[in-house]
Formats: sequence, C-alpha cells, structure tokens
Amino acid sequence: MSPDSMLVFVTSDKGGTGRSVTSCNIAYRLYLRGMDVAYVDFDFGSPTAGALFEIGHAERGIAEGHGLHSYLLGDIGEPRRLTVGRETDRPQLRRDAPGARQLVLLPGDAGGGEFGCDDAMIERGTTLLADLLTVFDVVIVDLSAGRSVALEIALRATASRMLRHRAHRWLVFHRWTRQHVLAAGGLIHGPHGLLNAAAHWDHNPDELLASTRCVRTAVAASDRTRTTDHPPQAAWLKEQANALRELAIANGIGAAMVLGQTPIEPMLQWREQLILDADVNARLANPATVEAYTDLARRLTDSATWDVD
Ligand SMILES: Nc1ncnc2c1ncn2[C@@H]1O[C@H](COP(=O)(O)OP(=O)(O)OP(=O)(O)O)[C@@H](O)[C@H]1O
Ligand SMILES: [Mg+2]
Repeated sequence: MSPDSMLVFVTSDKGGTGRSVTSCNIAYRLYLRGMDVAYVDFDFGSPTAGALFEIGHAERGIAEGHGLHSYLLGDIGEPRRLTVGRETDRPQLRRDAPGARQLVLLPGDAGGGEFGCDDAMIERGTTLLADLLTVFDVVIVDLSAGRSVALEIALRATASRMLRHRAHRWLVFHRWTRQHVLAAGGLIHGPHGLLNAAAHWDHNPDELLASTRCVRTAVAASDRTRTTDHPPQAAWLKEQANALRELAIANGIGAAMVLGQTPIEPMLQWREQLILDADVNARLANPATVEAYTDLARRLTDSATWDVD
C-alpha cells in the first residue's frame, strides 16, 4: 500500500453508460502499472462484475452468504475477495498476473438485491473501505446508476472521521450524446445531485467538486475520413460535435471536468470484458482503446489531475 492510496467511486445517472466495463479496464491498467487494486461491486441490484473479469462462478455474484450483500447486512464478518488472476477463466489474464501485485474483486451475493440503509450498514461500509485502503493502492467502488443506497454509503463513509482525510475521487460516466450530457450534468449539479447530497452528509461541496471528473465513453469520431464522400454528413457531424461541447460546458461538465474519453470499441459492442494487450496484438481490439484506458489510469493517479489535497 502507498501512503496516498485512494478510493475511487464510479457512478452515472443513466444505466448502460459503460461505467462498469470502463472502470474494470482502468482497474486492470492500474494493476499492470504495478498497483494493488480492488474492485468493489456496490451495484447491489445487479452484481455482475464477475462476468467482466470472466470469473465463471461469480458471473452473477458469488454464492449467497459470501458477498457484499451479506457483509453489509451484518450476516458475515468479511466479504469474500477474489484474486482475478487466480479465479478468472481467461488463460491470458491468468498469465498476466505478475505475482507481486494483486487485482482483487469483491463481488456481491448471487440473488442479492437492493436494500434499505441504516447506521450499522454505514459503519460496516466505512470499516470495509478503511480496511481495503490498508492493503490496496486504489479501491474502485462501482456505485451503480443514479441515487442509490450505494451512493449514500459512499458519501457517509467518506464524511466519517475514519475516512474524511483519505483521498477520494468521483468519476461520473456518460455517453457523448445530448441526453447523457444533460443527465450527467444533473447528477453532479442538479437539485438531487451529488453536490447537494454531499452537503447534506457534511461534505464541503467545493472540495467534492474538485474531486469529481467525468468520463465520456464510446465516443464516435466526428471527423471520419469516409464521411468526406458525404459532405453534408461530415458538416452535420462537426456541427453536432460543437453543439455537444457547448451543451457540456453549459451543464458544468466541460473540458476542465473531463478525466478522459474512450473510443467506440467493436469488441465491447459485442461483449463486456477486459481488453488485453493480447487482444490488440491479435488485431481483435483497436490500439486506441487500450491507449484510452491506460491514459485514464495514468490521469486518475496523477496528482496533477486533482487540485485538492
Ligand atoms: N468504448 C466502448 N465501445 C463500445 N461499447 C462499449 C464501450 N464501453 C462500454 N461498452 C458497452 O456498453 C455496454 C454498457 O456498458 P456497461 O455495462 O459497462 O455500462 P454500465 O454503465 O455499467 O451499465 P449498468 O448501469 O447497467 O451497470 C456494454 O455492452 C459494454 O460492453
Ligand atoms: Mg454496470
């Protein structure tokens, strides 16, 4: 563990934004960069992070009674940690395991669903995150979409005496379309958004905003060379790209708020998974996709990205 280990909460307003796939890939890139990384599946309504790491026995959560649901509900003292390099069904991912470092998934329970939240649960959530910070350099927590119990646990845990001095970052994922830009802006700045919820739970909203960045996912190219055969289409795409940029600025999620973006990746249009260097070498995945994940991982852990601390 490094002294500046950090919590990273990943969220989105809408579902299907690419939040889980992108953050799993960021986790994997951080691990390849020599960090100990935990991926914590707080998507209680749909605990499917095991599928992204291709851990067959935890594809829809781990056997009931062993996962995060059971831990947070107070049924067990510790949730199960799965070492990805050991548990995955993907041979290349097993081979990538460099040994000294760990990439670990904390899955939810198979059959687990959403639940209500009480003080005891907040305490258990806080203790869990504090424990993970003693072992891992980066702890990525998938909070699911929208305003959830997971979000409340995250906000109250990071406001607690135990965690309020630890670095915590917030990533808001969205597609690069009008509806998604409006939704992501609302999730951060809206009346029921992150900043107001943070203020309610004793955070300083300015500090929280400085710890928040957006990730634009599966962004289509607006300057495709093939569109030069269709000048009206090329002009329309350019116009829309400019309009979107302006909409993002008007909704408080302009360039200064952006950690990075990912291009459309054909492999991910067909299948949710980690993109390995082997996929690029086999010409299955686009190099630009791996570059985007590597860049997101680098910027996330670069102190120059954050003007807090
Ligand atoms: N760069 C990309 N290019 C193409 N497809 C992508 C890209 N990133 C993610 N996807 C695909 O988008 C879909 C939604 O992604 P994902 O499941 O990660 O979203 P999510 O926000 O976690 O959704 P949910 O709210 O349901 O948990 C998946 O099929 C995924 O493979
Ligand atoms: Mg998801």
